[in-house]
Amino acid sequence: MSDKLQSPTVLNPNFLIPVNPAIESYQLNLLRQSDHPVLTKMEDLAEKNNFPIVGRLVGTFLEIMAKTVNAERIFEFGSGYGYSAYWFAKAVGEQGQVICTEADLLNKDKAEQYLTAANLWDRIDFRAGMAQTIFAATDGYFDLCYNDVDKIDYPEIWLMAKDRIRPGGLYIADNVLWRGRVAVEGYVDVFSGWTEAIIEHNQLIFNDPAFDAFINPIRDGVIVARKKSA
Ligand SMILES: C[S@@+](CC[C@H](N)C(=O)[O-])C[C@H]1O[C@@H](n2cnc3c(N)ncnc32)[C@H](O)[C@@H]1O
Repeated sequence: MSDKLQSPTVLNPNFLIPVNPAIESYQLNLLRQSDHPVLTKMEDLAEKNNFPIVGRLVGTFLEIMAKTVNAERIFEFGSGYGYSAYWFAKAVGEQGQVICTEADLLNKDKAEQYLTAANLWDRIDFRAGMAQTIFAATDGYFDLCYNDVDKIDYPEIWLMAKDRIRPGGLYIADNVLWRGRVAVEGYVDVFSGWTEAIIEHNQLIFNDPAFDAFINPIRDGVIVARKKSA
């Protein structure tokens, strides 16, 4: 028998929010609101344009994860206009570097404007184009690879990134619970094949003996996989 819950054809979206919104509000209110004012402007733009940024809770989590492994070189697949990169850039410090990749060229200009205002642009190497192509053309290992591209490409990105993460380094991907669709039968997919791709991605990671993995269920689910040290 399937271990997935049976769900009605049309799912109640509230049912699919992994963590109760009241709990997330509580967590959010605990955060010190000491971040740069430009962050609010980036959040306002996301709200206005319905653009999927990770938000402050996940952003804080990303920063802490990066600091925990002393990350100095980070590769980001799918940077939008630099909101998640803001958190990584804070974490890597003045000598560190975040390589951002983004398919939409217009987002690069916005990222430069915001991250310059936040005094973080000199830590960013922002490249417009397909993340997969840019990654293949970039040498070396990374302390942390972060995946937030179109979900259909999640398995491909994992397979590319996993061999280029240094021992003890992290692979992190957003939206791995996909509003709970990964856990229920009869979900309604927003984009054809995306849920299946996320399910495959998550299984590949949890089946990989070279990594230890865990899903933090906040917001839409964030997977963290740590490459085992030799
Ligand atoms: C969810 S948004 C990223 C949000 C960003 N990580 C944040 O939290 O601020 C996904 C972005 O990835 C871009 N994208 C999707 N697939 C991509 C790919 N294969 N290569 C490069 N960019 C891609 C989209 O244009 C979009 O801006």
